[in-house]
Amino acid sequence: MLWAGFGISFDEKIVKILLQTPDEIRHQIWKELSRASNDRHHAWRTPVLATACPNGLVNARTVILRTVNMIEGQLQIFTDARSPKITEITAASNAVFVFWSSKLSWQLRVRVTISVLTAGPIADALGSA
Ligand SMILES: Cc1cc2nc3c(=O)[nH]c(=O)nc-3n(C[C@H](O)[C@H](O)[C@H](O)COP(=O)(O)O)c2cc1C
Repeated sequence: MLWAGFGISFDEKIVKILLQTPDEIRHQIWKELSRASNDRHHAWRTPVLATACPNGLVNARTVILRTVNMIEGQLQIFTDARSPKITEITAASNAVFVFWSSKLSWQLRVRVTISVLTAGPIADALGSA
């Protein structure tokens, strides 16, 4: 399980609906991220997560957005502890999520710092499942 705290880059989205201020844009983005974590049909449910490899190369893969914490500015995904991405994230915690929704016509590119959580209520529940 990974926790990702992030800051949103406003220059990366294409906004069709009328949003006037950075605060309105930020609010709408968080709203859509929250929707995506609860709606398996939302296009932002399956972002691409790009990471740096220890050998200097880069890697990217589709993941499922599991939970969104608007207050803490955190996204959560789950993965297998043996996954190569764990090695990459442990070596370099900076990563990027890319979300695309044709319905919204929005691309969201989010720079994140990722922490790997192997303990806690959710990790414990997953481990014992
Ligand atoms: C629709 C879709 C959703 C996926 N969701 C996840 C996920 O939530 N977590 C995960 O670890 N891998 C997920 N995968 C698999 C990854 O894309 C990837 O193949 C796998 O995690 C191995 O990546 P790695 O070698 O970089 O660790 C998903 C793949 C697809 C096609």
